[in-house]
Amino acid sequence: MAMAWMQGLATGVTLIDEQHRNLFQKVNALLDACRRGSGKDEISQVLDFLADYTITHFRAEEGLMTLHKYPGIVAHKGLHAVFIGNIEKLRAQFEKEGASPHVIISTNQVVVDWLMDHIRIEDSKVGALLRSKGVD
Ligand SMILES: [Fe+2]
Repeated sequence: MAMAWMQGLATGVTLIDEQHRNLFQKVNALLDACRRGSGKDEISQVLDFLADYTITHFRAEEGLMTLHKYPGIVAHKGLHAVFIGNIEKLRAQFEKEGASPHVIISTNQVVVDWLMDHIRIEDSKVGALLRSKGVD
């Protein structure tokens, strides 16, 4: 199942929304590579792209939160850190098992479900604060 962008996920802040869409593309590239039965090297590479982009995106989001004094920044940063740790665990699982059904299920839970919930629940609060300060 591909990760589909929907309007309900928009924070209303252009930079964040664009980066979220890019993130979805990278997650879908990972799921595609697993589905196609791509080799371990290719999947590791896609996973690297995803991990790198996630870090870039979290930095940008955290920068905006700092600049505009988002009150929940410490907790939000903590959530980002947990997610990065989970991606690292997923990477280790891939190294060991390749794209096993177990790893694909973890990808769906660890990456897809988490991102959807995080964007809908947490990033929407950040978006609301940023928009109230005139960021669009
Ligand atoms: Fe976030």
